[in-house]
Amino acid sequence: MTVFNKKKVDFTKEKIFFGEELNTQRFDEFKYPVFDKLTQRQLGFFWRPEEVSLQKDRSDYQQLSESQKHIFTSNLRYQTLLDSVQGRAPAIAFLPFVTIPELESCIITWDFMETIHSRSYTHIIKNIYSDPSDVFDTILDEPAIIARAENVTDKYDKFIELGRRRLLNLKVDDYDLYKALYLALISVNILEGIRFFVSFACSFAFGEAKQMEGSAKIISLIARDEAQHLAISQHILKCYKNHENDKIMNKVMKDCEKEVYEMYEDAVQQEKDWAEFLFQHGSMIGLSTPLLGHYVEFIANKRLRAIGLNPIYDRSSTNNPLPWTKHWFNSRGLQNAPQETEIESYVIGGIKQDVSDDSFKGFKL
Ligand SMILES: [Fe+2]
Ligand SMILES: [Fe+2]
Repeated sequence: MTVFNKKKVDFTKEKIFFGEELNTQRFDEFKYPVFDKLTQRQLGFFWRPEEVSLQKDRSDYQQLSESQKHIFTSNLRYQTLLDSVQGRAPAIAFLPFVTIPELESCIITWDFMETIHSRSYTHIIKNIYSDPSDVFDTILDEPAIIARAENVTDKYDKFIELGRRRLLNLKVDDYDLYKALYLALISVNILEGIRFFVSFACSFAFGEAKQMEGSAKIISLIARDEAQHLAISQHILKCYKNHENDKIMNKVMKDCEKEVYEMYEDAVQQEKDWAEFLFQHGSMIGLSTPLLGHYVEFIANKRLRAIGLNPIYDRSSTNNPLPWTKHWFNSRGLQNAPQETEIESYVIGGIKQDVSDDSFKGFKL
């Protein structure tokens, strides 16, 4: 392996993964421009948790009932685990094998933004709890979290193991390697597209009730990033399905269809169990275990459709069971007077690439 391939290679014709090793990081021509767009958008959305004040959240938290505290803290623990995985795994698993520069840059930005998410949980925890260790040190003591942690990391670990063997020039079957990559991508799609959503809904329900609003705002910024990350795995999967013409991957995708549907089903069931665990001492205004169950099914159908698979739940695609969550997912739609609250709906360094070849036709210098 080399960090700069000396060979001349046309990377606009290279495979997404496992092609010729990369050399120049150039961003003027692309095989798949969508990954550069996703990088630009992620960078434009850059934010820091310290920009959001949690002063009121601290006193709000003291006023919460025990069942509400259980919901809030448990979600925080679970999300801390999920983002710890995501703040590390894309760089360890996918980065060594990516062979188009626009996706390399996109994965680095993706992983970096995930570390902002982990930092934001530290920001929330440090501001709300008198002893942050009460939350951090107990994440791995919670059986309901451990039960799901295995599913979150399993496919990543398998791909990393085979990938490392490949890097060490040990014998690895190509089919097994592609299968591990494909299932890791699916598991990331599930992680970012389904697993966060029960926690998101609870955070936004607190926000709707004007409780823990600072935390809800931070979570809405995280949700905005997650939408970009979700698009990354969706587009990689779509490229393989429609453009790459990769025989091994095409066979893997066909062979694994049943396993993939089962992965979505398992994740949906686990999220339903999580909702039950959260609401075991009492639910929240606007939410209930069955409602969250319907919501997770609705979201899972959407995710399956987006990667060209069939929806598996009997849910209409237009009927969102939690329509009030929508504006939290689109923070650009939040209309607040600046004196009322903090505005987080800005884009830093955002650019619009809408200049065509003849835009300056009438100009003369
Ligand atoms: Fe994240
Ligand atoms: Fe993410």
